[in-house]
Amino acid sequence: GLPRRVRIHEVGARDGLQNEKAVVPTGVKAEFVHRLADAGLTTVEATSFVRPSWVPQLADAAELMPLLADLAGRDPAVRLPVLVPNEKGLERALELGVREIAVFGSATESFARANLNRTVDESLAMFEPVVARARQAGLAVRGYLSMCFGDPWEGPVPAGQVAAVARRLYAMGCTELSLGDTVGVATPGQVTALLDELTGGPGGAASGGAIGGAIPVEQLAVHFHDTYGQALSNTLAALQRGVSVVDASAGGLGGCPYAKSATGNLATEDLVWMLNGLGIDTGVDLDRLSATSVWMAEQLGRPSPSRTVRALTHR
Ligand code: HMG
Ligand code: MG
Repeated sequence: GLPRRVRIHEVGARDGLQNEKAVVPTGVKAEFVHRLADAGLTTVEATSFVRPSWVPQLADAAELMPLLADLAGRDPAVRLPVLVPNEKGLERALELGVREIAVFGSATESFARANLNRTVDESLAMFEPVVARARQAGLAVRGYLSMCFGDPWEGPVPAGQVAAVARRLYAMGCTELSLGDTVGVATPGQVTALLDELTGGPGGAASGGAIGGAIPVEQLAVHFHDTYGQALSNTLAALQRGVSVVDASAGGLGGCPYAKSATGNLATEDLVWMLNGLGIDTGVDLDRLSATSVWMAEQLGRPSPSRTVRALTHR
């Protein structure tokens, strides 16, 4: 059956903004994160501690985090994970008191090269000391895995290839794995097949169970981009397999600058509309969230692509 509650991992301030050409002022980013938290989102990915020349939009990470200190101090605290690719990034994040990080690997060689300037093996070797040190310091560590279904350079990606990298990230000590459809090409049958492969569920490894160790579904999240309009259908397929952590971006902002043809993430409002209809609790106030996305769209100078935002705000 479906989960009773879903935790939304809001990525609008990171995945949503990282692709924006015009630099968004740090104060606007801080207000965005506050508004997202005030709308009831409990996990708000804030920024990235990557090499600034790779993602200039997020080069102000060290200026932004202190502006969010009140959120981390709230009771209950708002979780503010940040992306960290290497030890340099971890040091920068730890200095600022970050409590939660995410490393980000790729299931394909092409995207590992484009996004991390590394092979898949080299990038995993880069993450290993980051995950170990972060866990020792008591941090939660998410492991993103990109190109889990299709890759713009390599085409469809076999579930077995994805699972092999996923298991290495899990074995490294990641506390949660987020399965990314970076370019938004997946369809629901692929989602079910990959989850079964990873968890050893009904069709896992052709019904022989997961090869090389199952990953508990409680530690899996899904991360869909909406390029072909499949993100919600894919999410429903994942919920039906027991996934209860779903990534989404307020207003449907987003895309990865190093992935050809990546468009915005699943819009948080579209997700909340569906979950509300299914009677699944998220804690999110949809009207406040939509108002936030309308405000952010004004800052960026173009309307939100979210159908739900448009429907709720142009009545
Ligand atoms: P590199 O160019 O190979 O860097 O980049 P390097 O390791 O050779 O280091 C070169 C210089 O960069 C050194 O300085 C380092 O200190 C500095 P120098 O000695 O020359 O003065 N440097 C840094 N400075 C600040 N912070 C750092 C850092 N690291 C190195 N963290 C690297 C390798 C991994 C750093 C680079 O490729 C990078 O930053 N990539 C990040 C790309 C990115 O952020 N992409 C978007 C996020 S992923 C995504 O969107 C997908 C996702 O949403 C899921 C999905 O949809 O699938 C998560
Ligand atoms: Mg993404």
